[in-house]
Amino acid sequence: MASLLVTGGAGFIGANFVHQCLSSRAGDRVVVLDALTYAGNLASLEPVLARPELVFVQGDIRTAGLAEGLLRQHDVSVIVHFAAESHVDRSIHGPDAFIDTNVLGTHELLKAARQVWLEERGRGAARGGGGGDAVRFHHVSTDEVYGSLGPDDPPFTERTPYAPNSPYAASKAGSDHLVRAYHHTYGLPVTTSNCSNNYGPYQFPEKLLPLMLVNALEGKPLPVYGDGQNVRDWLYVADHCRAIERILGAGTVGETYNVGGRNEWKNLDIVRLLCRLVDEAFGADPGLARRFPRAPASKGRPTDSLVTFVKDRPGHDRRYAIDASRIEADLGFTPRETFETGIRKTLAWYLANEAWWRGVMDGSYREWMRRHYQDSAP
Ligand code: NAD
Ligand code: TYD
Repeated sequence: MASLLVTGGAGFIGANFVHQCLSSRAGDRVVVLDALTYAGNLASLEPVLARPELVFVQGDIRTAGLAEGLLRQHDVSVIVHFAAESHVDRSIHGPDAFIDTNVLGTHELLKAARQVWLEERGRGAARGGGGGDAVRFHHVSTDEVYGSLGPDDPPFTERTPYAPNSPYAASKAGSDHLVRAYHHTYGLPVTTSNCSNNYGPYQFPEKLLPLMLVNALEGKPLPVYGDGQNVRDWLYVADHCRAIERILGAGTVGETYNVGGRNEWKNLDIVRLLCRLVDEAFGADPGLARRFPRAPASKGRPTDSLVTFVKDRPGHDRRYAIDASRIEADLGFTPRETFETGIRKTLAWYLANEAWWRGVMDGSYREWMRRHYQDSAP
């Protein structure tokens, strides 16, 4: 039996990863360390919280000694590090939290892994991410560290020089460099993945897709930044999680892997596609008009009438695109979902999980811990 420490496991991708782990890794223990910032939501783990293999610890990765204690207590052999401040717009308004968590927090985790795995237990690099003496620190990063592409530039490879443009991207770049340095200097067994934009269940409705979806159902404006021609490469979140499992299982220690969907879309096109799918869904299910009376689609009006062009994001990167050849060739990884299937699943999930996103919108998700734990305490 292996023990994994998943930081940020109550966030969007982390929660999807925890669900996947608990179904694919029978018998393994999953310890989630999450500070439950505004982006952390225990309701995203509700379906699995009672599982005996899951241990949830509310705590901050920056707290000295906390991760070290968990590594010892649970004999952790794999760390999957998701915890981060992750929203570019927030990093523009308040960069400090990004440096604190993404750079200093990652450094605390690296120090803990070095101390417990290398200094105290003499455990070293090996393939496999579990079993025997093999240990692994997997760092989850972003394609935004590579900066912005022109319309005809080739996609980012693992050899593209770093050129981060937002405080978020710069803080992730800083953490990537620290992870690399801990491998190079101390021999810590690390891998890093740099992934493109994710979408899917449990994504906080401040990011493009869930924000547009929720606003479309509520009849609120769909704010498209600038001219809407910025390009992102979209990957369904479960495919990202599968890629991480693949890297843990067969990735080369010290290596970085770009993960993407070969699926570039202009923002405006993606918003229009989403609007069309919402219109279709309302056409196929008359019950939706009763549930969402403020949606234009409930009155037969096109959802894209809500599209509103707003002031552009400062320093807005024009285009991201990932060349995923390495992970395809070396680890045989390809995404399972097409954009068509992934986006339909995402829409279906948000329609079926109204309570989850309403809880986020009205802030009641922050009360989850109190309602489910303290209130039931004797
Ligand atoms: P998220 O914002 O949804 O979740 C982040 C989680 O980290 C939250 O649960 C939050 O409570 C927790 N957290 C934040 N600060 C913490 C701290 N100091 N200590 C402990 N926990 C803390 O983020 P996400 O979209 O799930 O992204 C997860 C990771 O994947 C991030 O490292 C991000 O950079 C990376 N990534 C995200 C995307 C994407 O499209 N969302 C793409 C590529 C890479
Ligand atoms: P976002 O989901 O914030 O991810 P990132 O900035 O990490 O790529 O934004 C995706 C794209 O959508 C980005 O080009 C900014 C744009 N965008 C809008 O046009 N309107 C919005 O309300 C949001 C949140 C994003």
